[in-house]
Amino acid sequence: MKLFITGGAGFIGSNHIRLLLASDPDVEIVNFDALTYAGNLENLRDIAEDPRYRFVRGNITNASEVLGSLEEGVDAIVNFAAESHVDRSIESAAEFVLTNVAGTQVLLDAARMRKVPRFVHVSTDEVMGSLDDGGFFTEDSPLAPNSPYAASKAAAEHLVRAAMKTHGLDVVITRCSNNYGPYQFPEKLIPLVIANAMEGKIVPVYGDGLQVRDWIYVDDHCRAVDAVMRKAATGSVYCIGARSERANLEVIRTILDAVGAPHSLITYVSDRPGHDRRYAIDPVRVESEVGWSPQVTFEEGIAKTVAWYRDSAEWIAHARSGEYREFYEKNLAWRETMKS
Ligand code: NAD
Ligand code: TYD
Repeated sequence: MKLFITGGAGFIGSNHIRLLLASDPDVEIVNFDALTYAGNLENLRDIAEDPRYRFVRGNITNASEVLGSLEEGVDAIVNFAAESHVDRSIESAAEFVLTNVAGTQVLLDAARMRKVPRFVHVSTDEVMGSLDDGGFFTEDSPLAPNSPYAASKAAAEHLVRAAMKTHGLDVVITRCSNNYGPYQFPEKLIPLVIANAMEGKIVPVYGDGLQVRDWIYVDDHCRAVDAVMRKAATGSVYCIGARSERANLEVIRTILDAVGAPHSLITYVSDRPGHDRRYAIDPVRVESEVGWSPQVTFEEGIAKTVAWYRDSAEWIAHARSGEYREFYEKNLAWRETMKS
């Protein structure tokens, strides 16, 4: 199977590529990624030389860059590339519209031109807004995004659906809940808390800290995307979650205990504007129709994640200092030297 994976240098994309290379001897992967602040080739250091894997630096908003690397014969595009952080979308939404909306359309057009038989679009549960009055998100929940990030992901979903209805493109969409695990950039809640706790720095809690997220270990999400890619019917949408609802304060206290840091690091700060109160997924449809189910409990996942960050001091230091951005340039220079 030949896959064109976008955003594979980010958190979920890099875990996905690692998982595929480990589980499918016949897979061939092109990782197409612009290397924004969130793209980090250090996430893929251990598999960079695998002959089944190739990295291409390119931007999904640039049609000629996409078409230049999307060869005929690709079996599926898996679109992870996105601006993904809600707080950044509140500061400035333009980049979110460019990458998440316009970039998705460029990929859809390229998929049609190259006759790619399947387009897997990785979306998010945040497109469905906030569950303030209880209940669960299902595939039938209306789209009601509240942040510019969620709105841009919802817009992308509409374009994906339209490409199927109008042009007959084979598409599938996944809407997963909050991921955590190795290689997550330390701006998101869980890696930020781990990294700050290990350094004895304060842990910022937005508002009352009682907002609820439904946490899933990244490998479980990746296995779901893979199963949906291989088995789902054209046009399906699947909500993916691990039935692990936790209030933010509970997550933070669990991590502080796992790291051995004092709860006094918890520092309440102003709330995020438009902060969604609760997300929760009912994953029954993906479980029954695709045969996927989560394998990692929240407690196991947090223990694995804390252990990974403990062992990855250099990765964290580079991510925080921006030094990882030099890795690509150094690597490129090294390759050029080797060639000449
Ligand atoms: P991330 O921010 O860690 O990685 C995004 C990757 O996309 C980076 O490697 C970045 O360089 C690349 N990228 C950004 N703009 C690009 C562009 N214009 N062209 C090419 N590459 C570009 O994000 P993540 O957390 O790994 O999320 C991956 C996908 O999963 C996103 O689509 C996100 O909406 C979705 N998702 C994330 C979560 C979560 O909890 N992190 C949950 C559900 C869905
Ligand atoms: P985040 O990891 O940004 O994911 P999302 O906003 O996509 O759910 O945040 C998870 C939750 O943690 C969310 O309710 C906001 C909250 N939060 C904090 O309280 N403090 C922080 O420093 C961060 C980054 C998030």
